[in-house]
Amino acid sequence: MSRRERFLSLRGSHPHILPSILRCDFSDLRGEVAKLESAGVAGLHLDVMDGQRVPNLSFGIPVVAGFNRCTELPLDVHLMINTPEKYIEQFYEAGASAITFHIEAVADPLPVLEKIRDLGAAAGIAIDAQSDVAAIEHVAGHCDLVLVMSVQAGFGGQSFQPAALDKLVHAREIFGPDVFLEVDGGVNKETIADCVRSSADLLVVGSAITNHDDYGAAVSDLNDQVTAAGHQSS
Ligand code: DX5
Ligand code: ZN
Repeated sequence: MSRRERFLSLRGSHPHILPSILRCDFSDLRGEVAKLESAGVAGLHLDVMDGQRVPNLSFGIPVVAGFNRCTELPLDVHLMINTPEKYIEQFYEAGASAITFHIEAVADPLPVLEKIRDLGAAAGIAIDAQSDVAAIEHVAGHCDLVLVMSVQAGFGGQSFQPAALDKLVHAREIFGPDVFLEVDGGVNKETIADCVRSSADLLVVGSAITNHDDYGAAVSDLNDQVTAAGHQSS
């Protein structure tokens, strides 16, 4: 099974929480991954920033490869970098299962999405907080994942922007039931239920997990909200 197929097999009735490790303890990545694995998460969301596309630097290919050596969990790699097409292959070789880049970073997303799929990863397109779904409508049918940013990309720990909710609903209408709809930024116990009700099925959560000592309890509290929201909307 390709990494793409395995990632796509996460689709089911229950949305998944994917922890963003941006603010975890980088002196102990193996320990952090073990804590997240015991919390029962379905994958890890890795935020790659280049200090150009966004005003922050995080980490790159060797760190993604390091995570891949620590876990069997799928790695959901979120590229907040310019010219992502230059690095797709290296991120795939580092172990990415899904690779998502920003529409704002490329002139033509279609060949980039195709390249990601050809390599064997799930292909994702992201819109930053200032962009609308209209900017990516033309890639419907060519991607596996749509990432709606609910903060301006660049930093963890920001407040959720409710405008993302309408974008999620709109993206579901345009991209249909089979695409993964991911929301990223400011997702916490207060905001996660609205995201689920707006049809997000991959919920990226950073500080609302890594700010807690007990990752298991944090994930479990969030999952309770997800389950309750799922019942309300069905
Ligand atoms: C922001 C990143 C997010 C972020 C999530 O640019 O893409 O993944 O770190 O962190 P919280 O949940 O703290 O907003
Ligand atoms: Zn992210």
